Amino acid sequence: MLLALLPGLASSAHGPTLRQVAEQARILVGAAVRPPQLSETAYASTLAREFNMVEAEDAMKWWVLRPNATTYDFRQGDELVRFSQGHGMKVRGHCLVWGRNNPDWLAKGHFSPKQLSQLLHQHIRRVMKHYAGQVFAWDVVNEALDENGNVRDSLWYNKPGIGLSGQGTHYIEQVFRWAHNADPKALLFYNEAEGEGVNRKSDVIYAMVKDFRQRRVPIDGVGLQMHIPALDADASAIKANVARLAALGLQVHITELDVSVPVDSRGNASADDLARQAEVYRSIVHACLNSRGCTAIQTWGFTDKYSWIGSHSRGSRGQALPFDRTYEPKPAYRALFEEISAGRTSSD
Ligand code: XIL
Repeated sequence: MLLALLPGLASSAHGPTLRQVAEQARILVGAAVRPPQLSETAYASTLAREFNMVEAEDAMKWWVLRPNATTYDFRQGDELVRFSQGHGMKVRGHCLVWGRNNPDWLAKGHFSPKQLSQLLHQHIRRVMKHYAGQVFAWDVVNEALDENGNVRDSLWYNKPGIGLSGQGTHYIEQVFRWAHNADPKALLFYNEAEGEGVNRKSDVIYAMVKDFRQRRVPIDGVGLQMHIPALDADASAIKANVARLAALGLQVHITELDVSVPVDSRGNASADDLARQAEVYRSIVHACLNSRGCTAIQTWGFTDKYSWIGSHSRGSRGQALPFDRTYEPKPAYRALFEEISAGRTSSD
């Protein structure tokens, strides 16, 4: 591969790896994982070599864990935990409460609020206890707000909800309390999209978590998803947002970073766009590393061979991740590697 001949880009094969420089910089560097792919040697070896954290892309969601109302299927999640233990990696859990990615028996089940409340409480208890001591941080609630910062209509909120319909963020508070009781040692995160910089939505997230902290609702951090659909990112706004969250005593994890680029009908991107993509990765990693409180950077997958972007963008965008479809590092990898190697230069 051409990329491997360029100085620096071959660093993963011959020099230190991303996880080695991340360990020096004292930052977690993770990737979302699809456990069925772990049997592919290149997938497993790249993952174990370059990352010190994993998260189940889908394997710990309701649609995988809960084939029906009474059964739990932990096989895929357990496989990921075993892999992580074999390679000294941390595991983030994703996600306990979300209006999407739920099985039909639940979403279309016409349960009463009381039944839903029981189902959710039991689910949180059972899943968190199963993974206690193995999953160090959970996305307890995912995407509960719409793009304007209003509480989203959902199964858990008001359709019909768990009994706290119309009471704003009250249901979120309730599930954080359940989660803390289920595994008091796990770090509990609120995970969101579109609230990375400073905007209406991130203002609402900030107000919510500030209120939670003031009233001692158990919450440890905010996950900024960071799916970047255009080739720019406002790093100073991201820094400002991380700084105000950190000032509340919260950790920030970048949880689902990917930077998609336009692709042609064969899925190929231009070299210029891949270079611009690398600069976006660089500025985001720089913003995180130089913000007190930003403790993890995770990409949503790691190889362009397996990424949700194609299906999500109807194939018009793709190639969003640091490794290409043959597991060669891309310019984006080099940017990640260089920025993390530079370490934390300031901590404002
Ligand atoms: C996506 C997965 O990547 C896909 O495999 C699945 O089909 C749908 O969900 N925000 C989230 C993630 O919090 O859980 C989503 O993951 C992507 C958007």
